Amino acid sequence: GTQRRLVVVSNRVGPLNDEGKAGGLAVGLADALRKRGGLWFGWSGNVSDKGTFSELSTEIAGTTALTTIDLSEAELEGFYFGYANRSLWPLLHYRLDIARFDRQSDRIYRSVNQRFAARLFPQIDDNDLIWVHDYHFFYLGSELRQCGFTGRLGFFLHIPFCPPEILTALPASHDLVRSMLAYDVVGFQTELDRRNFASFCVQELDGEELPDHQIRVHDRVVRAIACPIGVDAEGFADFALSPEAVEHEEMMRDIAHGRHQIVGVDRLDYSKGIIERLRGFEQLLEDYPENRGTSQFLQIAPLSRVELDAYAELRTEVEQIAGNINGRFATLDWTPVQIMTRGFTRKALAGIYRAARVCMVTPLRDGMNLVAKEFVAAQDERDPGVLVLSRFAGAREELSEALIVNPYSSEDVARAIQRALTMSLSERRDRYDALRHAVFTNTAGHWCAAFLRELEGAPPQ
Ligand code: G6P
Repeated sequence: GTQRRLVVVSNRVGPLNDEGKAGGLAVGLADALRKRGGLWFGWSGNVSDKGTFSELSTEIAGTTALTTIDLSEAELEGFYFGYANRSLWPLLHYRLDIARFDRQSDRIYRSVNQRFAARLFPQIDDNDLIWVHDYHFFYLGSELRQCGFTGRLGFFLHIPFCPPEILTALPASHDLVRSMLAYDVVGFQTELDRRNFASFCVQELDGEELPDHQIRVHDRVVRAIACPIGVDAEGFADFALSPEAVEHEEMMRDIAHGRHQIVGVDRLDYSKGIIERLRGFEQLLEDYPENRGTSQFLQIAPLSRVELDAYAELRTEVEQIAGNINGRFATLDWTPVQIMTRGFTRKALAGIYRAARVCMVTPLRDGMNLVAKEFVAAQDERDPGVLVLSRFAGAREELSEALIVNPYSSEDVARAIQRALTMSLSERRDRYDALRHAVFTNTAGHWCAAFLRELEGAPPQ
């Protein structure tokens, strides 16, 4: 028969092209949808009085329809800032210390999920494959079932799924995980995340693990799989050869004056370990003084969720630490650390990655981290840079040939940077070959096809 229509739901929608992507989810989904086509449904990014009662707005891009609705001011606050980003984001990243819970935002989060389901339901039929994404929409599947949807329903979590010992701090953790059982297939970035989910079902919901990654909770059976997301590796490698990339690569080399460039690229988020990375670089300058004046660290950190205190505080702290390092080590002709909050196009980033000798990806917890994969895809095989990767990034499961570090240890980070800066060309090439193989094998298209294969194979409800 003909291929089923794919319907993707996520909070952020598009764009499908190179411009201004907010994070890993938008990158991975755009790469997948550009290939397969279908409907992409989510938030317009706008706030209006009618909120989720606003008119649907649809934009066609090739074989994909991008359909969006607004949020009201109260919905944005309760659903996005409140529950998604003050409760779930820190909690799922193992940050119980900064997670905040209140029942008002819990209520609004559920009602926004219900509203999105109600608005989507008339647009779909039971032959479509519905694929819901990320922590904004845990309840959307069960709400669609309530509407009467009986077709195939999948869910993918782009961020970590924390252990039950942490998740149970969420007042409605049982409701939340039970609602995930409405999906036929739930996908996670790593084996660890999948195991944490299974443990919650067993320990908290009296569930049972069955063969073939199935989990039964009372009368519901769901398949829980690890399905790591990838990048459009060929496409990104092509970006790295574009005029815009070449221009940025040359600019980077010009300003380096022969010094080694160390780069980091992250949304300015406390999960990314930017402070720990700066401390690691400072430790490098202390422990290996030959790097003073001969290497420099560029952190590109586009601002994110600035309305939230935790993000505003992080910004201040990052700027302070960078300032301290510069104050302490700078000379008339050398500034050790540069922080930029402006964003770059992905083509420009590809050029910046190519000029870098070392890329620092040091999250304290990260679902996958696509910067690590795109850095690899952008390298010149004749003279590849070195990836320093946190053991707490999901990408670590596939990218074990990177230099793996514990970001909480500045000595460990310093040692890894030093090793990267002094690594022989032949070792750099060997490691790059292994990394390249992983990144070009499990691409975004691959991830999408693998998940949808599981979803199509699921027995009908
Ligand atoms: C992460 C999340 C995405 C989110 C992105 C940017 O990658 O997994 O769902 O879209 O961060 O964050 P924002 O809050 O700006 O959408």
